[in-house]
Amino acid sequence: MLNIVIMAAGKGTRMKSALPKVLHRLAGRPLLQHVLDTATALGADRIVVVTGHGAEAVEAAVAAPHLAFVRQTPQLGTGHAVQQAEPQLLDGGTTLILNGDVPLIAADTARRLVEASGGQRLALLTIALADPTGYGRIVRGPDGDAVRAIVEHKDASEAQRAIREVYTGMMAAPTAALRRWLGRLTNDNVQREYYLTDVVEHAVTDGVAVVAAPARSETEVLGVNSPLQLAELERRYQRARADELMEAGVRLADAARLDVRGELRCGTDVEIDVNCVFEGRVQLGDGVRIGANCCIRNAVIEAGALIRPFTHVDGEAAGVRIGAAAEVGPFSRLRPGADLGPQVHVGNFVEVKNSTLAKGAKANHLAYLGDATVGERVNYGAGSITANYDGANKHRTVIGADAHIGSNCVLVAPVTIGEGATVGGGSTIAKDAPPGQLTVARARQVTIDGWTRPVKKKP
Ligand code: UD1
Ligand code: CA
Repeated sequence: MLNIVIMAAGKGTRMKSALPKVLHRLAGRPLLQHVLDTATALGADRIVVVTGHGAEAVEAAVAAPHLAFVRQTPQLGTGHAVQQAEPQLLDGGTTLILNGDVPLIAADTARRLVEASGGQRLALLTIALADPTGYGRIVRGPDGDAVRAIVEHKDASEAQRAIREVYTGMMAAPTAALRRWLGRLTNDNVQREYYLTDVVEHAVTDGVAVVAAPARSETEVLGVNSPLQLAELERRYQRARADELMEAGVRLADAARLDVRGELRCGTDVEIDVNCVFEGRVQLGDGVRIGANCCIRNAVIEAGALIRPFTHVDGEAAGVRIGAAAEVGPFSRLRPGADLGPQVHVGNFVEVKNSTLAKGAKANHLAYLGDATVGERVNYGAGSITANYDGANKHRTVIGADAHIGSNCVLVAPVTIGEGATVGGGSTIAKDAPPGQLTVARARQVTIDGWTRPVKKKP
Protein backbone atom coordinates (compact mmCIF):
# COMPACT_ATOMS: atom_id res chain seq x y z
CA MET A 1 0.00 0.00 0.00
CA LEU A 2 1.52 3.30 -1.09
CA ASN A 3 0.20 6.80 -0.35
CA ILE A 4 1.87 9.84 -1.87
CA VAL A 5 1.38 13.33 -0.46
CA ILE A 6 2.51 16.24 -2.61
CA MET A 7 2.89 19.57 -0.85
CA ALA A 8 1.94 22.42 -3.15
CA ALA A 9 0.34 25.06 -0.93
CA GLY A 10 3.23 27.49 -0.59
CA LYS A 11 3.10 30.94 -2.07
CA GLY A 12 6.41 31.15 -3.88
CA THR A 13 6.89 34.82 -2.99
CA ARG A 14 10.28 34.98 -4.67
CA MET A 15 8.79 34.11 -8.06
CA LYS A 16 7.20 37.61 -7.92
CA SER A 17 4.41 36.29 -10.11
CA ALA A 18 0.61 36.18 -10.08
CA LEU A 19 0.84 32.55 -11.18
CA PRO A 20 1.09 30.03 -8.29
CA LYS A 21 4.66 28.76 -8.12
CA VAL A 22 3.89 25.11 -8.87
CA LEU A 23 2.20 26.13 -12.14
CA HIS A 24 5.33 27.72 -13.55
CA ARG A 25 6.60 25.62 -16.42
CA LEU A 26 9.68 23.50 -16.78
CA ALA A 27 10.14 21.90 -20.21
CA GLY A 28 6.66 23.11 -21.11
CA ARG A 29 4.86 21.44 -18.21
CA PRO A 30 3.88 22.85 -14.80
CA LEU A 31 6.38 21.99 -12.05
CA LEU A 32 3.63 20.14 -10.20
CA GLN A 33 2.79 18.11 -13.30
CA HIS A 34 6.31 16.68 -13.37
CA VAL A 35 5.90 15.50 -9.77
CA LEU A 36 2.43 14.11 -10.47
CA ASP A 37 3.70 12.16 -13.47
CA THR A 38 6.44 10.65 -11.32
CA ALA A 39 3.95 9.86 -8.54
CA THR A 40 1.65 8.21 -11.07
CA ALA A 41 4.56 6.18 -12.49
CA LEU A 42 5.24 4.85 -8.98
CA GLY A 43 1.81 3.21 -9.03
CA ALA A 44 0.56 4.87 -5.84
CA ASP A 45 -2.73 3.63 -4.41
CA ARG A 46 -3.56 7.18 -3.39
CA ILE A 47 -2.14 10.56 -4.37
CA VAL A 48 -3.10 13.55 -2.23
CA VAL A 49 -2.14 17.05 -3.36
CA VAL A 50 -2.09 19.77 -0.72
CA THR A 51 -3.05 23.11 -2.25
CA GLY A 52 -3.35 26.55 -0.70
CA HIS A 53 -2.12 29.61 -2.54
CA GLY A 54 -3.98 29.78 -5.85
CA ALA A 55 -5.66 26.47 -4.96
CA GLU A 56 -8.41 26.77 -7.56
CA ALA A 57 -6.00 27.49 -10.39
CA VAL A 58 -3.64 24.72 -9.29
CA GLU A 59 -6.41 22.13 -8.98
CA ALA A 60 -7.92 23.12 -12.34
CA ALA A 61 -4.54 22.89 -14.07
CA VAL A 62 -3.62 19.39 -12.96
CA ALA A 63 -6.97 17.73 -12.12
CA ALA A 64 -7.21 14.02 -12.92
CA PRO A 65 -9.65 11.38 -11.70
CA HIS A 66 -7.01 9.56 -9.66
CA LEU A 67 -5.95 12.63 -7.65
CA ALA A 68 -7.34 13.84 -4.33
CA PHE A 69 -6.94 17.48 -3.33
CA VAL A 70 -6.97 18.95 0.14
CA ARG A 71 -6.79 22.65 0.95
CA GLN A 72 -4.40 24.10 3.51
CA THR A 73 -5.45 27.59 4.62
CA PRO A 74 -3.62 29.25 6.18
CA GLN A 75 -0.25 27.61 5.57
CA LEU A 76 1.26 26.88 8.95
CA GLY A 77 4.20 24.79 7.81
CA THR A 78 5.08 21.52 6.14
CA GLY A 79 3.85 19.44 9.10
CA HIS A 80 0.54 21.30 9.00
CA ALA A 81 0.34 20.60 5.25
CA VAL A 82 0.66 16.85 5.76
CA GLN A 83 -1.82 17.03 8.66
CA GLN A 84 -4.44 18.26 6.16
CA ALA A 85 -3.75 15.26 3.91
CA GLU A 86 -3.75 12.73 6.75
CA PRO A 87 -7.51 11.94 6.77
CA GLN A 88 -7.26 11.07 3.06
CA LEU A 89 -4.50 8.48 3.50
CA LEU A 90 -5.29 4.82 3.02
CA ASP A 91 -4.41 2.68 6.03
CA GLY A 92 -1.24 0.67 6.25
CA GLY A 93 1.86 0.55 4.10
CA THR A 94 4.05 3.53 3.38
CA THR A 95 3.41 7.21 2.82
CA LEU A 96 5.81 9.09 0.57
CA ILE A 97 6.01 12.87 0.82
CA LEU A 98 7.08 14.89 -2.21
CA ASN A 99 7.27 18.59 -3.01
CA GLY A 100 5.32 20.27 -5.77
CA ASP A 101 8.25 22.59 -6.45
CA VAL A 102 10.93 19.90 -6.76
CA PRO A 103 10.07 18.72 -10.26
CA LEU A 104 12.89 16.43 -11.31
CA ILE A 105 12.83 13.82 -8.59
CA ALA A 106 13.52 10.54 -10.40
CA ALA A 107 11.01 7.72 -10.06
CA ASP A 108 13.91 5.37 -9.24
CA THR A 109 15.04 7.51 -6.35
CA ALA A 110 11.50 7.83 -4.99
CA ARG A 111 11.14 4.05 -5.26
CA ARG A 112 14.40 3.55 -3.35
CA LEU A 113 13.12 5.87 -0.64
CA VAL A 114 9.89 3.88 -0.33
CA GLU A 115 11.91 0.66 -0.16
CA ALA A 116 14.19 2.14 2.50
CA SER A 117 11.10 2.77 4.61
CA GLY A 118 9.58 -0.61 3.86
CA GLY A 119 6.54 0.38 5.92
CA GLN A 120 8.73 0.06 9.04
CA ARG A 121 11.37 2.78 9.07
CA LEU A 122 11.36 6.52 8.58
CA ALA A 123 13.45 7.12 5.46
CA LEU A 124 14.78 10.60 4.61
CA LEU A 125 16.09 11.60 1.22
CA THR A 126 19.31 13.48 1.89
CA ILE A 127 22.20 15.03 0.03
CA ALA A 128 25.54 16.57 0.97
CA LEU A 129 25.82 20.14 -0.30
CA ALA A 130 28.86 22.41 -0.56
CA ASP A 131 26.62 25.23 0.61
CA PRO A 132 23.86 23.91 2.89
CA THR A 133 22.55 27.37 3.83
CA GLY A 134 18.77 27.42 4.34
CA TYR A 135 18.30 23.66 4.47
CA GLY A 136 17.36 21.41 7.37
CA ARG A 137 20.50 19.67 8.67
CA ILE A 138 20.71 15.92 9.30
CA VAL A 139 21.85 15.56 12.90
CA ARG A 140 23.28 12.15 13.76
CA GLY A 141 24.02 10.51 17.11
CA PRO A 142 27.45 10.39 18.79
CA ASP A 143 28.30 7.24 16.79
CA GLY A 144 27.75 9.35 13.65
CA ASP A 145 25.38 6.70 12.41
CA ALA A 146 21.80 6.87 13.59
CA VAL A 147 19.85 9.97 12.52
CA ARG A 148 18.57 11.79 15.61
CA ALA A 149 16.90 14.90 14.18
CA ILE A 150 16.50 17.36 11.36
CA VAL A 151 17.27 20.87 12.53
CA GLU A 152 16.07 23.77 10.40
CA HIS A 153 18.75 26.27 9.39
CA LYS A 154 17.03 29.04 11.36
CA ASP A 155 16.93 26.90 14.50
CA ALA A 156 20.43 25.44 14.12
CA SER A 157 23.46 26.14 16.32
CA GLU A 158 26.78 27.15 14.78
CA ALA A 159 28.00 23.56 15.10
CA GLN A 160 24.86 22.21 13.41
CA ARG A 161 25.13 24.75 10.60
CA ALA A 162 28.52 23.25 9.77
CA ILE A 163 26.78 19.97 8.84
CA ARG A 164 26.66 19.61 5.08
CA GLU A 165 24.26 16.69 4.91
CA VAL A 166 20.79 18.14 4.42
CA TYR A 167 17.20 16.99 4.18
CA THR A 168 15.86 17.36 0.64
CA GLY A 169 12.23 17.76 1.75
CA MET A 170 11.24 14.23 0.71
CA MET A 171 10.60 11.34 3.09
CA ALA A 172 8.82 8.00 3.34
CA ALA A 173 7.21 6.78 6.55
CA PRO A 174 5.04 3.94 7.81
CA THR A 175 1.53 5.38 7.44
CA ALA A 176 0.29 4.35 10.90
CA ALA A 177 3.32 5.84 12.67
CA LEU A 178 3.15 9.00 10.55
CA ARG A 179 -0.46 9.56 11.69
CA ARG A 180 0.70 9.28 15.30
CA TRP A 181 3.65 11.66 14.84
CA LEU A 182 1.58 14.27 12.99
CA GLY A 183 -0.72 14.41 16.00
CA ARG A 184 2.23 15.33 18.21
CA LEU A 185 3.70 18.21 16.17
CA THR A 186 4.02 21.60 17.82
CA ASN A 187 5.08 24.99 16.46
CA ASP A 188 7.62 25.60 19.18
CA ASN A 189 10.39 26.99 16.93
CA VAL A 190 11.84 30.20 15.51
CA GLN A 191 9.34 30.32 12.59
CA ARG A 192 6.25 29.35 14.69
CA GLU A 193 5.52 26.66 12.09
CA TYR A 194 4.49 23.03 12.33
CA TYR A 195 7.61 21.39 10.94
CA LEU A 196 7.17 18.03 9.23
CA THR A 197 10.83 17.44 10.01
CA ASP A 198 10.00 17.09 13.72
CA VAL A 199 8.63 13.60 12.98
CA VAL A 200 12.26 12.44 13.15
CA GLU A 201 12.45 13.13 16.88
CA HIS A 202 9.10 11.38 17.44
CA ALA A 203 10.36 8.37 15.52
CA VAL A 204 13.46 8.29 17.71
CA THR A 205 11.25 8.51 20.83
CA ASP A 206 9.07 5.65 19.54
CA GLY A 207 12.11 3.53 18.79
CA VAL A 208 11.38 3.55 15.03
CA ALA A 209 14.57 3.38 12.96
CA VAL A 210 15.41 6.51 10.99
CA VAL A 211 17.47 5.97 7.85
CA ALA A 212 18.97 8.38 5.34
CA ALA A 213 18.78 7.49 1.66
CA PRO A 214 21.13 9.57 -0.49
CA ALA A 215 19.81 11.29 -3.61
CA ARG A 216 21.54 10.27 -6.84
CA SER A 217 22.13 13.79 -8.09
CA GLU A 218 21.65 17.37 -7.03
CA THR A 219 19.41 18.06 -10.03
CA GLU A 220 16.69 15.73 -8.81
CA VAL A 221 16.38 17.42 -5.43
CA LEU A 222 16.67 21.05 -6.49
CA GLY A 223 13.62 23.14 -5.68
CA VAL A 224 12.36 26.14 -7.59
CA ASN A 225 11.95 29.33 -5.60
CA SER A 226 12.89 32.07 -8.07
CA PRO A 227 12.96 32.73 -11.82
CA LEU A 228 16.74 32.25 -11.70
CA GLN A 229 16.44 28.80 -10.13
CA LEU A 230 13.71 27.89 -12.62
CA ALA A 231 15.91 28.85 -15.56
CA GLU A 232 18.90 27.00 -14.11
CA LEU A 233 16.86 23.85 -13.57
CA GLU A 234 15.46 24.13 -17.11
CA ARG A 235 19.05 24.17 -18.47
CA ARG A 236 20.01 21.14 -16.39
CA TYR A 237 16.93 19.30 -17.62
CA GLN A 238 17.61 20.23 -21.25
CA ARG A 239 21.26 19.27 -20.97
CA ALA A 240 20.22 15.85 -19.70
CA ARG A 241 17.82 15.43 -22.67
CA ALA A 242 20.59 16.48 -25.06
CA ASP A 243 23.01 14.00 -23.48
CA GLU A 244 20.46 11.18 -23.84
CA LEU A 245 19.93 12.01 -27.51
CA MET A 246 23.65 12.18 -28.26
CA GLU A 247 24.14 8.92 -26.37
CA ALA A 248 21.61 7.41 -28.78
CA GLY A 249 23.59 8.71 -31.76
CA VAL A 250 21.78 11.96 -32.56
CA ARG A 251 24.20 14.64 -33.79
CA LEU A 252 23.46 17.97 -32.16
CA ALA A 253 25.31 21.01 -33.47
CA ASP A 254 25.33 22.37 -29.92
CA ALA A 255 24.08 20.43 -26.90
CA ALA A 256 23.42 23.72 -25.11
CA ARG A 257 21.11 25.02 -27.81
CA LEU A 258 18.32 22.46 -27.90
CA ASP A 259 14.95 22.49 -26.13
CA VAL A 260 12.78 19.42 -25.82
CA ARG A 261 9.41 20.11 -24.22
CA GLY A 262 7.82 16.74 -24.56
CA GLU A 263 8.92 13.53 -26.23
CA LEU A 264 11.46 13.50 -29.06
CA ARG A 265 12.18 10.14 -30.68
CA CYS A 266 14.95 9.85 -33.24
CA GLY A 267 16.14 7.21 -35.67
CA THR A 268 19.78 6.79 -36.64
CA ASP A 269 21.89 9.51 -38.27
CA VAL A 270 19.61 12.35 -37.27
CA GLU A 271 21.20 15.81 -37.31
CA ILE A 272 19.81 18.81 -35.47
CA ASP A 273 21.27 22.27 -35.93
CA VAL A 274 21.20 24.99 -33.25
CA ASN A 275 18.20 26.60 -31.53
CA CYS A 276 15.54 24.06 -32.33
CA VAL A 277 12.51 23.63 -30.06
CA PHE A 278 10.60 20.34 -30.04
CA GLU A 279 7.22 20.21 -28.32
CA GLY A 280 4.60 17.55 -27.71
CA ARG A 281 5.38 14.31 -29.52
CA VAL A 282 7.88 14.49 -32.31
CA GLN A 283 9.34 11.57 -34.21
CA LEU A 284 12.31 11.92 -36.56
CA GLY A 285 13.09 9.04 -38.91
CA ASP A 286 16.53 7.82 -39.96
CA GLY A 287 18.71 10.44 -41.59
CA VAL A 288 16.38 13.36 -40.91
CA ARG A 289 18.17 16.73 -40.84
CA ILE A 290 16.71 19.71 -39.03
CA GLY A 291 18.12 23.14 -39.84
CA ALA A 292 18.72 25.93 -37.35
CA ASN A 293 15.91 27.74 -35.57
CA CYS A 294 13.04 25.35 -36.24
CA CYS A 295 10.03 24.94 -33.93
CA ILE A 296 8.42 21.54 -34.31
CA ARG A 297 5.41 20.33 -32.38
CA ASN A 298 3.39 17.11 -32.69
CA ALA A 299 4.86 15.86 -35.93
CA VAL A 300 6.17 12.74 -37.59
CA ILE A 301 9.06 13.36 -39.97
CA GLU A 302 9.98 10.35 -42.04
CA ALA A 303 13.37 9.04 -43.11
CA GLY A 304 15.68 11.29 -45.06
CA ALA A 305 13.50 14.39 -44.88
CA LEU A 306 15.29 17.73 -44.81
CA ILE A 307 13.84 20.59 -42.80
CA ARG A 308 15.61 23.83 -43.64
CA PRO A 309 16.13 26.69 -41.15
CA PHE A 310 13.32 28.77 -39.61
CA THR A 311 10.58 26.26 -40.32
CA HIS A 312 7.56 26.23 -38.03
CA VAL A 313 5.65 22.98 -37.74
CA ASP A 314 2.70 22.87 -35.37
CA GLY A 315 0.60 19.73 -35.56
CA GLU A 316 -1.53 20.69 -32.53
CA ALA A 317 -4.01 17.82 -32.06
CA ALA A 318 -4.32 16.60 -35.65
CA GLY A 319 -0.57 16.26 -36.15
CA VAL A 320 1.67 16.88 -39.13
CA ARG A 321 3.38 14.26 -41.25
CA ILE A 322 6.35 14.96 -43.47
CA GLY A 323 7.09 12.09 -45.82
CA ALA A 324 10.37 10.39 -46.63
CA ALA A 325 12.95 12.54 -48.41
CA ALA A 326 10.62 15.54 -48.42
CA GLU A 327 12.20 19.00 -48.32
CA VAL A 328 10.62 21.74 -46.28
CA GLY A 329 11.69 25.34 -45.71
CA PRO A 330 13.38 27.64 -45.17
CA PHE A 331 10.57 29.70 -43.62
CA SER A 332 7.74 27.22 -44.18
CA ARG A 333 4.75 26.88 -41.93
CA LEU A 334 3.00 23.53 -41.55
CA ARG A 335 -0.20 23.52 -39.53
CA PRO A 336 -2.49 20.76 -38.18
CA GLY A 337 -3.39 18.11 -40.72
CA ALA A 338 -0.59 18.94 -43.14
CA ASP A 339 0.27 15.55 -44.60
CA LEU A 340 3.18 15.63 -47.03
CA GLY A 341 3.98 12.51 -49.01
CA PRO A 342 7.45 11.34 -49.96
CA GLN A 343 9.68 13.75 -51.89
CA VAL A 344 7.25 16.63 -51.52
CA HIS A 345 8.86 20.08 -51.61
CA VAL A 346 7.40 22.93 -49.60
CA GLY A 347 9.43 26.08 -49.82
CA ASN A 348 9.78 29.54 -48.38
CA PHE A 349 6.73 31.36 -47.07
CA VAL A 350 4.43 28.48 -47.89
CA GLU A 351 1.65 27.68 -45.42
CA VAL A 352 -0.07 24.29 -45.45
CA LYS A 353 -3.07 23.37 -43.30
CA ASN A 354 -5.30 20.29 -43.33
CA SER A 355 -4.03 19.30 -46.76
CA THR A 356 -2.59 16.20 -48.33
CA LEU A 357 0.23 16.54 -50.83
CA ALA A 358 0.93 13.32 -52.70
CA LYS A 359 4.38 12.08 -53.67
CA GLY A 360 6.58 14.58 -55.46
CA ALA A 361 4.15 17.52 -55.30
CA LYS A 362 5.83 20.94 -55.06
CA ALA A 363 4.76 24.28 -53.64
CA ASN A 364 7.98 26.20 -53.56
CA HIS A 365 7.19 29.86 -52.97
CA LEU A 366 4.76 32.19 -51.18
CA ALA A 367 1.67 29.98 -51.27
CA TYR A 368 -1.27 28.80 -49.17
CA LEU A 369 -2.80 25.35 -49.28
CA GLY A 370 -5.74 24.91 -46.90
CA ASP A 371 -8.24 22.01 -46.99
CA ALA A 372 -6.71 20.74 -50.22
CA THR A 373 -6.01 17.35 -51.73
CA VAL A 374 -3.03 17.65 -54.02
CA GLY A 375 -2.08 14.85 -56.41
CA GLU A 376 1.32 13.43 -57.28
CA ARG A 377 3.84 15.68 -59.02
CA VAL A 378 1.53 18.72 -58.93
CA ASN A 379 3.41 22.00 -59.30
CA TYR A 380 1.72 24.72 -57.32
CA GLY A 381 2.92 28.13 -58.45
CA ALA A 382 4.31 31.02 -56.48
CA GLY A 383 1.75 33.23 -54.80
CA SER A 384 -1.19 30.88 -55.39
CA ILE A 385 -3.76 30.25 -52.71
CA THR A 386 -6.78 28.14 -51.98
CA ALA A 387 -9.70 30.36 -50.96
CA ASN A 388 -11.04 27.69 -48.63
CA TYR A 389 -13.26 29.83 -46.41
CA ASP A 390 -16.41 31.54 -47.62
CA GLY A 391 -16.82 33.49 -44.40
CA ALA A 392 -18.95 30.79 -42.81
CA ASN A 393 -17.74 27.37 -43.92
CA LYS A 394 -14.53 25.72 -45.11
CA HIS A 395 -14.47 23.95 -48.47
CA ARG A 396 -12.07 21.55 -50.19
CA THR A 397 -9.90 22.05 -53.20
CA VAL A 398 -8.90 18.95 -55.16
CA ILE A 399 -5.96 19.14 -57.56
CA GLY A 400 -5.40 16.08 -59.75
CA ALA A 401 -2.02 14.48 -60.36
CA ASP A 402 0.42 16.26 -62.69
CA ALA A 403 -1.61 19.48 -62.70
CA HIS A 404 0.29 22.75 -63.01
CA ILE A 405 -1.11 25.72 -61.15
CA GLY A 406 0.48 28.93 -62.42
CA SER A 407 1.61 31.78 -60.24
CA ASN A 408 -0.75 34.03 -58.34
CA CYS A 409 -3.88 31.91 -58.80
CA VAL A 410 -6.90 31.88 -56.49
CA LEU A 411 -8.64 28.52 -56.33
CA VAL A 412 -12.09 29.28 -54.92
CA ALA A 413 -13.23 26.16 -53.07
CA PRO A 414 -15.09 23.92 -53.47
CA VAL A 415 -13.32 23.34 -56.76
CA THR A 416 -11.58 20.53 -58.62
CA ILE A 417 -8.65 20.86 -61.00
CA GLY A 418 -8.47 17.83 -63.23
CA GLU A 419 -5.44 15.58 -63.70
CA GLY A 420 -2.78 17.05 -65.90
CA ALA A 421 -4.64 20.37 -66.14
CA THR A 422 -2.78 23.63 -66.48
CA VAL A 423 -4.12 26.78 -64.85
CA GLY A 424 -2.80 30.00 -66.31
CA GLY A 425 -1.03 32.39 -63.98
CA GLY A 426 -3.19 35.05 -62.37
CA SER A 427 -6.41 33.05 -62.76
CA THR A 428 -9.26 33.10 -60.29
CA ILE A 429 -10.76 29.64 -60.63
CA ALA A 430 -14.30 29.35 -59.27
CA LYS A 431 -15.50 26.48 -61.49
CA ASP A 432 -13.91 23.06 -62.02
CA ALA A 433 -11.06 22.97 -64.54
CA PRO A 434 -11.11 19.93 -66.86
CA PRO A 435 -8.20 17.49 -66.96
CA GLY A 436 -5.42 17.83 -69.50
CA GLN A 437 -6.41 21.30 -70.74
CA LEU A 438 -5.31 24.87 -70.18
CA THR A 439 -7.78 26.93 -68.20
CA VAL A 440 -7.26 30.66 -67.92
CA ALA A 441 -9.58 32.97 -65.99
CA ARG A 442 -8.33 36.49 -66.25
CA ALA A 443 -8.86 39.52 -68.44
CA ARG A 444 -7.35 38.92 -71.87
CA GLN A 445 -4.22 40.96 -72.55
CA VAL A 446 -4.67 43.64 -75.21
CA THR A 447 -2.25 46.00 -76.88
CA ILE A 448 -3.73 49.30 -78.06
CA ASP A 449 -2.45 50.40 -81.41
CA GLY A 450 -1.26 53.99 -81.77
CA TRP A 451 -1.70 54.78 -78.09
CA THR A 452 0.44 57.67 -76.87
CA ARG A 453 1.38 58.71 -73.42
CA PRO A 454 -0.24 61.86 -72.07
CA VAL A 455 2.08 64.89 -72.02
CA LYS A 456 2.20 67.61 -69.40
CA LYS A 457 0.09 70.67 -70.28
CA LYS A 458 2.06 73.93 -70.68
CA PRO A 459 0.84 76.72 -68.34
C1 UD1 B 1 11.85 22.33 3.99
C2 UD1 B 1 12.36 21.49 5.14
C3 UD1 B 1 13.87 21.55 5.18
C4 UD1 B 1 14.45 21.10 3.86
C5 UD1 B 1 13.86 21.91 2.73
C6 UD1 B 1 14.30 21.36 1.41
C7 UD1 B 1 10.61 21.64 6.82
C8 UD1 B 1 10.20 22.23 8.10
N1 UD1 B 1 11.80 21.98 6.36
O1 UD1 B 1 12.19 23.67 4.30
O2 UD1 B 1 14.35 20.75 6.23
O3 UD1 B 1 15.86 21.20 3.89
O4 UD1 B 1 12.44 21.88 2.76
O5 UD1 B 1 13.88 22.20 0.37
O6 UD1 B 1 9.87 20.86 6.26
N2 UD1 B 1 4.42 23.94 1.95
C9 UD1 B 1 3.07 23.79 2.09
N3 UD1 B 1 2.46 24.32 3.17
C10 UD1 B 1 3.13 25.01 4.12
C11 UD1 B 1 4.53 25.17 3.97
C12 UD1 B 1 5.14 24.61 2.87
O7 UD1 B 1 2.42 23.17 1.25
O8 UD1 B 1 2.50 25.46 5.09
C13 UD1 B 1 5.07 23.35 0.77
C14 UD1 B 1 5.75 24.39 -0.09
O9 UD1 B 1 4.90 24.85 -1.09
C15 UD1 B 1 6.89 23.60 -0.68
C16 UD1 B 1 7.24 22.59 0.41
O10 UD1 B 1 6.09 22.52 1.24
O11 UD1 B 1 6.52 22.88 -1.82
C17 UD1 B 1 8.46 22.98 1.22
O12 UD1 B 1 8.18 24.21 1.85
P1 UD1 B 1 9.29 25.29 2.07
O13 UD1 B 1 8.72 26.46 2.71
O14 UD1 B 1 10.03 25.51 0.80
O15 UD1 B 1 10.22 24.52 3.11
P2 UD1 B 1 11.62 24.98 3.59
O16 UD1 B 1 11.46 26.00 4.63
O17 UD1 B 1 12.47 25.30 2.42
CA1 CA C 1 12.04 25.31 -0.10
